[in-house]
Amino acid sequence: MKPAFETRPLSEALGVEVLGVDPSGSLDDGDVAELRRLWLAHCILLFRGVDWTPEQHIAFTLQFGALYTMPGIASKTSTNLSGHPEIMVVSNIKRAGKPIGLRRAGWGWHSDGEDKMVPNMGSLLHALKVPPQGGDTGFANTYKAYEALSPAIRKRIDGRRCRFSRTERHAVNYPNLPPLTDQEKRGRPDVWHPITRTHPETGRTALYVGRWAVEIEGIPKDEGRALIQELTAHAVKPEFTYTHRWKSGDAILWDNRCTQHRAMPFDDDTYERHMQRTTLDGDTPYFVTARGERMESVLS
Ligand code: SIN
Repeated sequence: MKPAFETRPLSEALGVEVLGVDPSGSLDDGDVAELRRLWLAHCILLFRGVDWTPEQHIAFTLQFGALYTMPGIASKTSTNLSGHPEIMVVSNIKRAGKPIGLRRAGWGWHSDGEDKMVPNMGSLLHALKVPPQGGDTGFANTYKAYEALSPAIRKRIDGRRCRFSRTERHAVNYPNLPPLTDQEKRGRPDVWHPITRTHPETGRTALYVGRWAVEIEGIPKDEGRALIQELTAHAVKPEFTYTHRWKSGDAILWDNRCTQHRAMPFDDDTYERHMQRTTLDGDTPYFVTARGERMESVLS
């Protein structure tokens, strides 16, 4: 049997740095299985000093699952790398007066694709250029957040769904982008996901809220919104989070099924921040109740 990779914890809450692995090189099946074991156990993996081509970034990600190609978030906004649409560019850089990626992507707690029927399993973000201050990324362990909920709150939310709406929240979450067109709205119908999500690989339960969540089934709208705010604030308490101060060459693979993340603001009129992200496809969320019933997400 192969020895496990050496790791260094990133925080008490979640995450390890993996040492002695070159993600741009070739890994055998045993290496990939070991990385997946670490990913499932720690929710986020950090690799440092990564210098890869877009093809190598894609090839490394494919070892964890099928890739998802991000659609433009709002019309006229190109977010993918030219020639490599599987790579989303998160950047405030302009070339010839045109943005080369999505500016202010993810400035608010979320998990990728939470507003879709099939959210994204994971994402792998590579830092190419980072500002001297700000622009960190926060990560929250939503297993720990769920486990720390009071029995009364768990009883209130276990087995309930929450409505996630791109249409309702787009202007709030992306004030810098043009409004969604009617066609885009039709392409992103609201979805009801279980608020407590069973992880399909670990079987553990994670709290599943985020910045596109707007309503809880069976609870009056205002009350539901207040509860979403309470759960969101709970999920990102310091004891469940890690904030990553990027160095160029860092790459982080996170599991969207048991984490939330957010990019921290920085002075993006003065400094450049340039990141590239691959995104893994996923599966429909579900929750297995205490009575063993499986409830799944449904479209609105
Ligand atoms: C994202 O939400 O994927 C972007 C995160 C970041 O740029 O830090």
